[in-house]
Amino acid sequence: MRIIIVENYEEMSKKAAAMMASQIILKPESVLGLATGDTPLGMYKELIRMYNENMIDFSKVKTFNLDEYYGLGKDSNQSYNYYMTNNLFKHINIDKENINIPNGMVKNIEEECISYEKRIKEAGGIDIQVLGIGVNGHIGFNEPDVNFEAETHLVNLDEKTIESNSRFFKCIEEVPTKAISMGIKTIMHSKKIVLLANGASKADAIAKTVNGKISPEVPASILQLHQDVAIIVDKEAASKL
Ligand code: F6R
Repeated sequence: MRIIIVENYEEMSKKAAAMMASQIILKPESVLGLATGDTPLGMYKELIRMYNENMIDFSKVKTFNLDEYYGLGKDSNQSYNYYMTNNLFKHINIDKENINIPNGMVKNIEEECISYEKRIKEAGGIDIQVLGIGVNGHIGFNEPDVNFEAETHLVNLDEKTIESNSRFFKCIEEVPTKAISMGIKTIMHSKKIVLLANGASKADAIAKTVNGKISPEVPASILQLHQDVAIIVDKEAASKL
């Protein structure tokens, strides 16, 4: 694991965007694994800026998002599909055909999960996966007590995750209790991983991820076994390292 401690959120976002940009420049047909939430918003802004300045071209890039709430369609403004459209995709020249986000509205979830894995494999695997981290150490929506062997699957969200994500909804009752998420096995098969964290609320999770025992209790701790992980953290998130 390479730990990169930066001054603040802005620096974290710029460094992460630079890593993504160099991946796209080196391999224009890169397969990017993307995350939602507050953490990567600054990175997406920076990538849009680089695109507007003709520094990067997304026309051949393929993307796979980590997760989607179960029961929310792409028109719901709380869905991750909606988030991705508004925070990145509508601002860049990505081909819509190359965008992949789990479909939270399908009847046959098992089929959707199998098809998602198949699409990732057919694309040649994920070249670089961006991750945020939950206060409980989750990555994607792989919650504590995770099965390290799982691929894309339906997950029950942890109480802490529901509480934390309720900030995006009118009330906690509106937060979906299930999601479709890439599994740990899917994430671990990515060629490179960049995990981002900022703020004091993430300090415990980061300390356990980097220095703790590898355990299903802290899903992100498995990243210690990946051969190419960069963790970019601001000073606050790094305060317990
Ligand atoms: C989002 C995702 C989650 C978030 C995590 C942190 O696609 O998979 O694991 O990365 O919950 O969320 P924020 O960035 O909002 O603190």
